[in-house]
Amino acid sequence: MIVGIPKEIKNNESRVGMTPGGVYELVKKKHTVYVQSNAGEGSGFLNSDYLKAGAVILDSIGEVYAISEMIVKVKEPIAEEYDLIQEGQILFTYFHFASSEPLTKAMIKAKAICIAYETVEDSDGTLPLLTPMSEVAGRLAIQQGAKYLEKPVKGRGVLLGGVPGVAPGKVLVLGAGIVGIQSAKMAAGLGAHVTILDINMKRLRYVNDVMPPHVVTEFSNEFNIRKHIKTHDLIIGGVLLKGAKAPNLITRDMLKEMRPGTVIVDVAVDQGGCVETTRPTTHEDPVYIIDDVVHYSVANMPGAVPFTSTMALTNVTLPYVLKIASLGWETACDANPSLKKGLNIISGTIVYQEIKEAFNWN
Ligand SMILES: NC(=O)c1ccc[n+]([C@@H]2O[C@H](COP(=O)([O-])OP(=O)(O)OC[C@H]3O[C@@H](n4cnc5c(N)ncnc54)[C@H](O)[C@@H]3O)[C@@H](O)[C@H]2O)c1
Repeated sequence: MIVGIPKEIKNNESRVGMTPGGVYELVKKKHTVYVQSNAGEGSGFLNSDYLKAGAVILDSIGEVYAISEMIVKVKEPIAEEYDLIQEGQILFTYFHFASSEPLTKAMIKAKAICIAYETVEDSDGTLPLLTPMSEVAGRLAIQQGAKYLEKPVKGRGVLLGGVPGVAPGKVLVLGAGIVGIQSAKMAAGLGAHVTILDINMKRLRYVNDVMPPHVVTEFSNEFNIRKHIKTHDLIIGGVLLKGAKAPNLITRDMLKEMRPGTVIVDVAVDQGGCVETTRPTTHEDPVYIIDDVVHYSVANMPGAVPFTSTMALTNVTLPYVLKIASLGWETACDANPSLKKGLNIISGTIVYQEIKEAFNWN
């Protein structure tokens, strides 16, 4: 198959759909890979790295789309790319169709085969192509939170690890899912005291089994949340109700009960946030303050660390890319139920029911 890797042109997106290592694997299996010049620059991969791996470098994004049977990307195509897409071309990338009617209509019109990373689903209901981004965001949440706890950026002025003779900082993690566990692990590694809350006892038992004793589990309810926000320095929001808006576990009135300079990193911002006062921010302007509480709520946190995020993403996408390239999308999807769940639009027809429901198109 002829596979194309265009440069991401969405604002502030430095990740790339394939590493030179991925190109090497495809070329080894006799596929041809075209990479747009400087596509990997933001993630630390040079044209020369791709050339060494066996890719052909093309100057423009138009050339990559024109020649490729399958396009492998990171973000959904933006308006400038719509007319470049060929009928019958396979697009393998994050789409998040339900959040954009114009994108959905454009992909129907393009008659492409749209396989969405975010709906590839394993038999146990987990989303293998979303997991690594939650891992990145969960770990990064502590790095960012620790920074914004510093006094010059209006934080409480607390060092999370403490020092000999001074107690460590306290981190409250809401949700013991992927984000929550990775956050708890990083905070514990820094020496902070960690309290992690969830409503799922299985998750709490797991955390209790694998984490060190300074990570304490508690059941998530309003009483416990109100109790802990008064004493914790950094609060991480990592709650998810699948397919629904995150619940507002921290309401506006609760901010008054927190100490000035408390930091909230609401990772769940992309699902509306689990804090009532959360609104999406960007890497250029990541924080705002309400009632002396610092809010960090960047909607695409992994974008801050593209070197790590690109590798984490392509580690999990490559096996699927190899299957599609070798078998063609139809046989690959028939042979692999997880990948089949990724099919969203086939040649102008929506095949993923939730997209129709999102726009009342039934
Ligand atoms: N901002 C970003 O850049 C970014 C990046 C990756 C993920 N995310 C988001 O982070 C959120 C968490 O993702 P995840 O992969 O960890 O999800 P997950 O499903 O692994 O974990 C969510 C956890 O929340 C728990 N939960 C549900 N209701 C709760 C409640 N009332 N109190 C406490 N816990 C509760 C669930 O039991 C589950 O353990 C999602 O909204 C995801 O989209 C954001």
